[in-house]
Amino acid sequence: MLSRLSRPLQRQSGRQAPLSPGISPNRHICRSVRSSAASSFALDGYKDLCIKRRIAARIRSVGMHGPDPYIELLEADQQEQKKLLATLSIHVSQFFRNPSTYTVLTDRVLPELAQRSRNSSSKLRIWSVGCANGEEPYSLALLCQSLLADEDLLLSIIGTDLSSEALQRAKRGCYEQNRLAAVPKELLQRYFVFRDKHYCLVDKIKMAVRFFHHDILSDQPFYRADLILCRNVLIYFSRRQQQRVLEILAAALPPGGFLVLGRAETLVTSCRQLFRCIDPAERIYQRLDGDEQPLPSLSGQSQG
Ligand SMILES: C[S@@+](CC[C@H](N)C(=O)[O-])C[C@H]1O[C@@H](n2cnc3c(N)ncnc32)[C@H](O)[C@@H]1O
Repeated sequence: MLSRLSRPLQRQSGRQAPLSPGISPNRHICRSVRSSAASSFALDGYKDLCIKRRIAARIRSVGMHGPDPYIELLEADQQEQKKLLATLSIHVSQFFRNPSTYTVLTDRVLPELAQRSRNSSSKLRIWSVGCANGEEPYSLALLCQSLLADEDLLLSIIGTDLSSEALQRAKRGCYEQNRLAAVPKELLQRYFVFRDKHYCLVDKIKMAVRFFHHDILSDQPFYRADLILCRNVLIYFSRRQQQRVLEILAAALPPGGFLVLGRAETLVTSCRQLFRCIDPAERIYQRLDGDEQPLPSLSGQSQG
């Protein structure tokens, strides 16, 4: 079974080939998804190996053994286009994922940002990019609630993702127990209610986070933030796309603002002059002084 799973995606010999000459099967599949009505998902920037593995898994799960019949299925079946899209953009997350990262946020980053906001009487603004089902921005809301609740501090937290389904789950704010393993007991007792086999966030926390549909690769950036978490999103992107995203995030941060990447992610070399690393293990960076670029507004959406 395992060897079957790790077998690379290969074209089967002897099949009718519906592909244009010179275009690989995976690229053809990507084009079908991109041109489908299912989404504006831009696959061009995504890492080839990552895409290949997921496409191969999807082909196996419909009981096919090669890309050619799958391409035909994909072109005829919108449901399959949606399923492939969901497979390509997995939404795995956890509350307080990598708890030691949240320890550094608690001990160092949030107190510094809170002090800055107090001094300038401005909002503390937090952006979770690729927020999946909301676990990450809600973890930040829980943290801020327990750290800064007594203070007269204005707070704005947003979560953005490319997946409408993930955002719907995020807005619902109800989770299975396995997503909550790292939530401290007192936060669990205080801010969740158990309903229909799910732990649901109380309104106070739900209302602290706003969610927006946003593709970090192709939509206009629209939010300025003091702290940006973009964890386990860059891993899907090519180096060129990582550079573009990091430049966008640098433009969204003021000098001294913080960026947190995932544990398996790092700054591409060309972006190292934009940030200094303040915690290499937790992948926490601080924006260096530089020209702030204007960010266009996303029409019709409040920026808080
Ligand atoms: C593995 S989850 C990471 C969730 C969370 N940040 C964490 O670390 O637990 C990756 C998320 O990135 C989202 N994503 C992928 N490409 C994206 C893009 N171009 N723009 C916005 N979100 C994207 C996916 O939809 C998915 O929800």
